[in-house]
Amino acid sequence: MLAAEMRAQLKRKVETYNTEKGRNIGLAVVIVGNDPASQIYVRNKIKACEEVGFKSFAHYLPGDISQRRAEELVRSLAEDTAVDGILVQLPLPGHLNAQKLLGLIPAEKDVDGFSAENCGKLLLNEKGLVSCTPFGIMKLLEKYNIKIAGSNAVVLGRSNIVGKPMAMLLLNADATVTVCHSKTKNLKDICSAADIIVSAVGKAGFVTADMVKDGAVVIDVGMNRTDKGLCGDVDFENVSKKCSYITPVPGGVGPMTITMLLYNTYLAAVDR
Ligand code: GUN
Repeated sequence: MLAAEMRAQLKRKVETYNTEKGRNIGLAVVIVGNDPASQIYVRNKIKACEEVGFKSFAHYLPGDISQRRAEELVRSLAEDTAVDGILVQLPLPGHLNAQKLLGLIPAEKDVDGFSAENCGKLLLNEKGLVSCTPFGIMKLLEKYNIKIAGSNAVVLGRSNIVGKPMAMLLLNADATVTVCHSKTKNLKDICSAADIIVSAVGKAGFVTADMVKDGAVVIDVGMNRTDKGLCGDVDFENVSKKCSYITPVPGGVGPMTITMLLYNTYLAAVDR
């Protein structure tokens, strides 16, 4: 499994770094409130961080924390030399100005790749920190020798976290990219012509077999809680019969997202 392989490789590199520099690479994780899904994500991130040899700085803030207090924390982490990467778990409670808070994370510590500077670098195809989920998907495509250049790639969803950076990465790798969203017409026709489909819609069973070309590659970013448990966006049972590669949920993209967070934190430390 690629995620496990990359983490083992990273662990060795981190050991060397920590020994040479006489300090541990540090990742600060900020979570506000007690959204159960976010709590689980953060717990998994912190666990993965420690397994690979990072020092983690977890900040659990009350759901009613003021903007000023939250900003003070992010500013102090920005200045803290023991902290190489800062992650503010989203979503934040409605009373907080998320853009303003995230804007206080310096680009070189922005291990989520959400800052305007890192998004701009991605747009310009320059070196920067890239959003973990799409970055992990590129690593998966690379690992399985999937030809991207010249392919028709369809991205379902246009979020700042997944859809948009995914489209840019595929475009930078010379795919012909179509981004579909809730207002897209002829969705089935567009998907049926795709060599690669990346679905980040958030609806269980959204991608059905009649939308998928024989031999296509289907990447499922969905994390939908249903009566049957955790499900992706793709009707796995039927779509898997048609495509050449498909990622399962759970287990496909999810573990890569955390792996790329670790990888970005390592890059942030090495490049500082
Ligand atoms: N919430 C859901 N996904 C993510 C992510 O990748 N990073 C952060 N910070 N919050 C999230």
